[in-house]
Amino acid sequence: MRSILNINTKYCMTIQQNISLLSFNTFGIDAYAEQYAEVSNINELSEILSKQKPDFILGGGSNVLFTKDVQGLVVKNNFTGKEVIQEDENEVHVKFGAGENWHECVLWAVERDYGGIENLSLIPGTIGAAPIQNIGAYGVELKQVFVSLEAVHMQEKSIRTFVNRECLFGYRSSIFKNEFKDQYFITSVTLKLTKNNHQLNTSYGTIEKTLENTGIDTPSIRSISDAVISIRSSKLPDPAKIGNAGSFFKNPVLLKSQFEVLQAKHPDMFCYDMPNNYAKIPAGWLIEQCGWKGKRIGNAGTHINQALVLVNHGGAAGEDILRVAYEIQDAVHSKYQILLKPEVNIL
Ligand code: FAD
Ligand code: EPU
Repeated sequence: MRSILNINTKYCMTIQQNISLLSFNTFGIDAYAEQYAEVSNINELSEILSKQKPDFILGGGSNVLFTKDVQGLVVKNNFTGKEVIQEDENEVHVKFGAGENWHECVLWAVERDYGGIENLSLIPGTIGAAPIQNIGAYGVELKQVFVSLEAVHMQEKSIRTFVNRECLFGYRSSIFKNEFKDQYFITSVTLKLTKNNHQLNTSYGTIEKTLENTGIDTPSIRSISDAVISIRSSKLPDPAKIGNAGSFFKNPVLLKSQFEVLQAKHPDMFCYDMPNNYAKIPAGWLIEQCGWKGKRIGNAGTHINQALVLVNHGGAAGEDILRVAYEIQDAVHSKYQILLKPEVNIL
């Protein structure tokens, strides 16, 4: 479904010049935007689009590595709002403004006992960026609760609704990371959450163990959210303390038969089974086996507890992080003949 964007001709927004992005990215990289603006509604966005097409859309900056200053216009998405647009006794459809903080929306849902996103607690960033890579954690992916999104085509200045199947969601992937990369500005996302008969997902990793340790034998939405928050806080570095963007690379996915060939050479190697005879290999393990866990070059390195998370120990430039990433790719490739692909958006 498409409609034409009303172009706002009452210009009142200012585009700022030469703005530091240091506090706008969780890696803590001091890159500059040649031009910068923030938009919080469709009128402001249409006004910007009538002047020029943005060169980069910024959400919470938690999945981006700036390796240089951004030439052109960075537009930060501040669209707000949470609206129940459909409801029956079992389900609720909630439309979230794309600039809302993801984790705060999870807590909002948990508070109301709306189920479906509790396993995605504590993922940084905005609602609007969540479909870009189909965020996932602890056995759940966004696509399981995703109904639709609204987005503005920045060149054509038209508004389009994308339903779930049109987003071509995959593991850390969607149409917005591929065919439609940098073409659409997502303004809202609608999720379908359960009001009862919640499909609780406790099977992944240490969720069950964490629940047991806290004496919980009949888990709820809230107790799962709390368990995920506790596990994540113990494993992943807090970007407020040490710059990072979560997993830097995706976990490589190979055919199970290719994995078995590799495992014959490296008997300790393990994988997670995927549909259609594919296998996902933990990149953190591969990187650790190459001696990179906790290693650093100057101010850039990998986290001491999670080798898949590249970190800025303070003052590193984007290029310093990228150098570490290249070295890791080389090391893993020469030992395992696997090319790690970045999850983070590198600019
Ligand atoms: P940004 O980093 O600002 O942008 C990411 C990309 O999306 C960019 O290409 C940007 O241009 C584009 N974009 C942003 N907003 C819009 C919009 N409105 N319209 C169009 N394009 C847009 N991810 C997971 O999947 N699972 C995890 O468990 C996880 N854990 C993390 C833990 C930590 C500590 C950190 C720092 C990151 C983690 N991430 C995880 C990655 C990150 O949180 C997600 O990818 C998140 O969705 C990024 O949101 P953001 O608003 O910060 O996006
Ligand atoms: N591992 C090691 N050494 C390490 C790190 C991990 O051996 O240094 C092993 C672990 O022991 C475990 C396996 O690798 O057996 C997997 O590790 P973990 O459970 O920490 O998860 P991950 O595969 O590293 C993925 C996602 C995370 C998500 C968690 C939980 C990707 C690229 N990363 O990490 O997402 O939070 O699972 O579901 O899929 C992100 O995308 O930014 C992110 C943090």
